[in-house]
Amino acid sequence: MRLLVWLPAALLCLSTAVSAQTATAVPTPKPFEDSIAQRSLACTHCHGAQGRAAPDGYYPRLAGKPAGYLYNQLLNFRDGRRHYGLMTQLLEPLSDGYLLEIAQHFAALDLPYPAALPAAGSRELVERGRVLVMQGDASRQLPACVQCHGQRMTGVLPNVPGLLGLPRDYLNAQMGAWRAGKRRAHAPDCMAQVALRMSPDDIQAVSVWLASQPVPSDSKPAERLAAVAGLPVCGTAAITASATSATSAKTGVAR
Ligand code: HEC
Ligand code: HEC
Repeated sequence: MRLLVWLPAALLCLSTAVSAQTATAVPTPKPFEDSIAQRSLACTHCHGAQGRAAPDGYYPRLAGKPAGYLYNQLLNFRDGRRHYGLMTQLLEPLSDGYLLEIAQHFAALDLPYPAALPAAGSRELVERGRVLVMQGDASRQLPACVQCHGQRMTGVLPNVPGLLGLPRDYLNAQMGAWRAGKRRAHAPDCMAQVALRMSPDDIQAVSVWLASQPVPSDSKPAERLAAVAGLPVCGTAAITASATSATSAKTGVAR
């Protein structure tokens, strides 16, 4: 008899605990660092421990990328400018403030890169890739990639990513997605313009060369871009006051 009384009470407890977990207000908030480290485990399952995915697969590394770039991408997946169902599901319920926290968490990780892989293509292809990245092709009004991504190709703060340490297949897929209109950035979307001026062979060449380049020992993004006449200012999301205040409040962040 006693058991029968106890059992529904226990079930009630359990269901309260479950609904408390799914609700936005968590009754006993954990310290900020704990929760971000814990929740990012869902991400590092695919993106490698500490977001350090190596270039031998498909998953892009997250660690050390500019925070503004990562934040833009999380918004892009959540809001339908980039598509990867499994990630969108994870990001859909998250607020701008929480996405900014995640972006800042991965951006702050300063961790070494593995060695680059050997170039998987003919010498001509690899050389064509190098020339396109370093010099572009004026006859097609294709700017050099380094003009925006930095001379060392480690990206530029706050929102231009580096191009090294990424898998070749991932690079190919991103350029292809831009050409096909399946990946979009905030307007003006510079990369859509760049990708549309490239042929599939150009893309292949650039991806093969980039994936075979070592990451410099100082892998940090450049502080700012050297001003180049005629280069457009590329689009980025504004970091709203509500996103930053959610970060500094550290509690009550929608999950
Ligand atoms: C099931 C595997 C998986 C999980 C889990 C996952 N991701 Fe991803 N993520 C991917 C893949 C695959 C891509 C590349 C998709 C594409 O082709 O555009 C990606 C892309 C990204 C990018 C863009 C990187 C870049 O260089 O543009 C960011 C940022 C990112 N993920 C963050 C996260 C965060 C934060 C989480 C956890 C909340 C997460 N991911 C969970 C698989 C995953
Ligand atoms: C006019 C400036 C500009 C030029 C030139 C440019 N890029 Fe970009 N690129 C950007 C910006 C800005 C982003 C970030 C877009 C976003 O927020 O999604 C980007 C993103 C990328 C990404 C996505 C990286 C990732 O982690 O997913 C790749 C790949 C890329 N560029 C390759 C290239 C290549 C290859 C070239 C040269 C052929 C090039 N870019 C030239 C501005 C430029």
